[in-house]
Amino acid sequence: MSPVIEERAPERADRIVSVRVSPDDQSGNESLRPRSLAEFIGQDDLKKRLVISIEAARQRGESVDHVLFSGPPGLGKTTLAQIMGHELSARLHTTSGPAIERAGDLASILTKLEPGDILFIDEIHRINRTVEEVLYTSMEDFKLDITIGKGPSAQTLRIDLKPFTLIGATTRAGLLTAPLRDRFGHHLTLQYYRPQEILQIARRSASILGLDTDDEGVLELARRSRGTPRIANRLLKRVRDYAQVRAGNRLTLPVVRDALDLLGIDELGLDPVDRRLMELLCFRYRGIPVGLKNLAVSLGEDQQTLEEVYEPYLIKIGFLIRSPRGRVASPQALTHFLAREPAVDEQQILFQTAGPIE
Ligand SMILES: Nc1ncnc2c1ncn2[C@@H]1O[C@H](COP(=O)(O)OP(=O)(O)OP(=O)(O)O)[C@@H](O)[C@H]1O
Ligand SMILES: [Mg+2]
Repeated sequence: MSPVIEERAPERADRIVSVRVSPDDQSGNESLRPRSLAEFIGQDDLKKRLVISIEAARQRGESVDHVLFSGPPGLGKTTLAQIMGHELSARLHTTSGPAIERAGDLASILTKLEPGDILFIDEIHRINRTVEEVLYTSMEDFKLDITIGKGPSAQTLRIDLKPFTLIGATTRAGLLTAPLRDRFGHHLTLQYYRPQEILQIARRSASILGLDTDDEGVLELARRSRGTPRIANRLLKRVRDYAQVRAGNRLTLPVVRDALDLLGIDELGLDPVDRRLMELLCFRYRGIPVGLKNLAVSLGEDQQTLEEVYEPYLIKIGFLIRSPRGRVASPQALTHFLAREPAVDEQQILFQTAGPIE
């Protein structure tokens, strides 16, 4: 079966607060991934719902109803799918929406499933329409309808499947078609983590990595992690490097601050690209709505990347508003950014690269 393929909007490879999986994440990352619901910090309501459905299914000796996890990247969708596999002692088969190109690919995956197995489809909103239609009856009745031949002589074959659980993960739940969405028994949305939860996650990761930290240092790191465990883990590794080379291996408050400042990550967790985006909206457009396309051109970024990667957190912290007429800086963002004039080189970037107001 195809492994999970990371096929998302392009994003700058060097972006330190990137929410994408980078090779750096993979090094030692499996050890940081919680293995059980008890180890999984935060998302309390979602966890309670999962515990009940897992327990109920176990008692009845049935498979759990299909689950859809949605939410911004790096919050724990894949982790939860793997945890469900462990908790249910089920075999987990992993693939992704774009990797299943033809109905036949899906058929070969589905017919290999044993009773109680879990099929995890990442980026499920990117599955193509023909494949999606095959998925409908498979999810609903555990039957696979396959059409053989074309035209008047075409025949439909119905194959019985073993009861399985489909877990879908998506960063864009809105792009899922209604018929597909409706076939999931559980819709579970992950939220950005609260500061206290990110702090616990950062502490846990620091202890697994055997880092010498103090409370204030980890708190500062958590504060700049955008409520996202993947970012907390990544920043931890970068600060570890800095501490090793410059600061006798100890992650204290000044060390964390210096390391993150050096990486261009400010006290809100914003990186230079976030700041350029916000400064465009604040200084150049001053609260006037800007079309996504125009904004993307001005920043030299891809539209999809802006929508999926940069904007969700800026919206979450109340800096950016998606209005019907375009993107606008919130009054809160205007106050924050207008309090400081952009540096000279930033001014050049802002005023030379900004496109016309739409
Ligand atoms: N609740 C949590 N507690 C501790 N660590 C967590 C938690 N959630 C996620 N992580 C860590 O964050 C990393 C990213 O999580 P995960 O890969 O599950 O995100 P995702 O939602 O699947 O992201 P994507 O949309 O990019 O696929 C994991 O490697 C894991 O170590
Ligand atoms: Mg994932």
